[in-house]
Amino acid sequence: RIIVPSALATGLLLAIPAAAVAGGPPASPKDRSVTGAPGIGDPYYPASGNGGYDVSHYDLRLKYQPKTDLLEGTATIVATTTQELARFNLDLGLKASEVLVNGKKAKFAATGAHELEITPVAPLAKNKAISVVVKYAGKPSELKIDGFSAWARTPDGGIAAQEPDSAVWWFPSNDHPLDKATYDISVSVPDGTQAISNGVLVSQSSKLGWTRYNWRSNKPQASYLATLAVGKFDITTDTTANGLPVLNAYSKDLGDNDGAARASIERTTEVAEWLESVFGKYPFNALGGYVPNVPSGYALETQTRPFYSPRQFANGANVSVVVHELAHQWYGDSVSVKGWKDIWVNEGFARYSQWLWSEKEGEGTAQELADYVYAQHPADDPFWTVKPGDPGPDKQFDIAVYDRGALALQALRNTVGEKDFFAILKGWPTERAYGNANVNDFVKYAERISGKPLATLFDTWLYEPVRPAAPAAAKARL
Ligand code: ARG
Ligand code: ZN
Repeated sequence: RIIVPSALATGLLLAIPAAAVAGGPPASPKDRSVTGAPGIGDPYYPASGNGGYDVSHYDLRLKYQPKTDLLEGTATIVATTTQELARFNLDLGLKASEVLVNGKKAKFAATGAHELEITPVAPLAKNKAISVVVKYAGKPSELKIDGFSAWARTPDGGIAAQEPDSAVWWFPSNDHPLDKATYDISVSVPDGTQAISNGVLVSQSSKLGWTRYNWRSNKPQASYLATLAVGKFDITTDTTANGLPVLNAYSKDLGDNDGAARASIERTTEVAEWLESVFGKYPFNALGGYVPNVPSGYALETQTRPFYSPRQFANGANVSVVVHELAHQWYGDSVSVKGWKDIWVNEGFARYSQWLWSEKEGEGTAQELADYVYAQHPADDPFWTVKPGDPGPDKQFDIAVYDRGALALQALRNTVGEKDFFAILKGWPTERAYGNANVNDFVKYAERISGKPLATLFDTWLYEPVRPAAPAAAKARL
């Protein structure tokens, strides 16, 4: 691909010898040094995120027509440069039609891996506040990456909710958990249709046949945790004892799963209050959940308002999945991974909190569930070849990341004892609130609180591709 020398974009063209221009001069080392990297440096997903700037806020003003799947938007991105930038990238799969940087029209080009390359009229200095406005449009359902779409079109709308990535299907971003930001998401949909997103529904208004929903998520949020759901929903609202707004949304088309979905998600406040007793204060400005009419089977901890597939409720109420997704609000959303190999700091804890809920409900202690899971997988089960501490992109969401990941926490509990274990569970989300952490950061933290060396224990449970000996307390019972 042709690299545009920064001089071409900066009006210094005349300073370049004509022969060099005609020949298409290769970028000098200096040019490269002022180009923002097209990836943030995550070895699992090299194209994810970008280098050279840090976003603090996204303002998305969108319009979506369910009949045609056409999404049109203007994104205003408030950021700070972390280096001099003659050019930088955003991640976007839809088609940009206009880009302004600091109010001035910029050159832009869509390149290979869903990158939008932006060349401002003049290089941006380091450590400067910048604004980037991107006007864009497209049909998200037509965007496939390796045959996959994170946008689910439904009979009455569409939904963006996927991990590790969904943003490129609906807005330009620095698409990696390392660059978290606040969000205002404003979505206009035909009257009679609802648009659900993160945080507080600040206002809604209708005119000329369209209703606009204005959502605000006012704490740092990773791009994959931003969500949009358009469809015909029944919305329930409440307020917690602490005054936080609760808003749940159920597709009007959930069929037989409707009752069980409500019987689960209407317990969000109760579950969150119990989780506060384990993890400390709830980190965000709103609570809730939504269930669109999609055929998929997963759930996702979209910030403040998790996504649940109707199939989660096919056997009746499933409060356990609500516990899992709400536990992620502390472990995953407030404290986010530094890189995607750190997925255990999300999933191990969300699974373990389901075991704690079971323990509280008298449906089996965490130790009993650990014994059960351990016994379920004989030594030759490939389950034990997955390393929860570095599973690889293909096994990022393998069941072993969840179940062996939770076994690691039971082993920690058996080693440090109840008092220190629960002090660790509660202290970590406070110490790391709204930030990022990796597996080793957690190991170090647990060592600090317990005063015990724990490297061998975590090596055994998170990094050895073999079945560890049963955790001590379990062994006594086998
Ligand atoms: N974090 C989600 C959960 O455990 C998992 C999402 C799975 N996504 C996937 N692409 N497999 O609730
Ligand atoms: Zn999870």
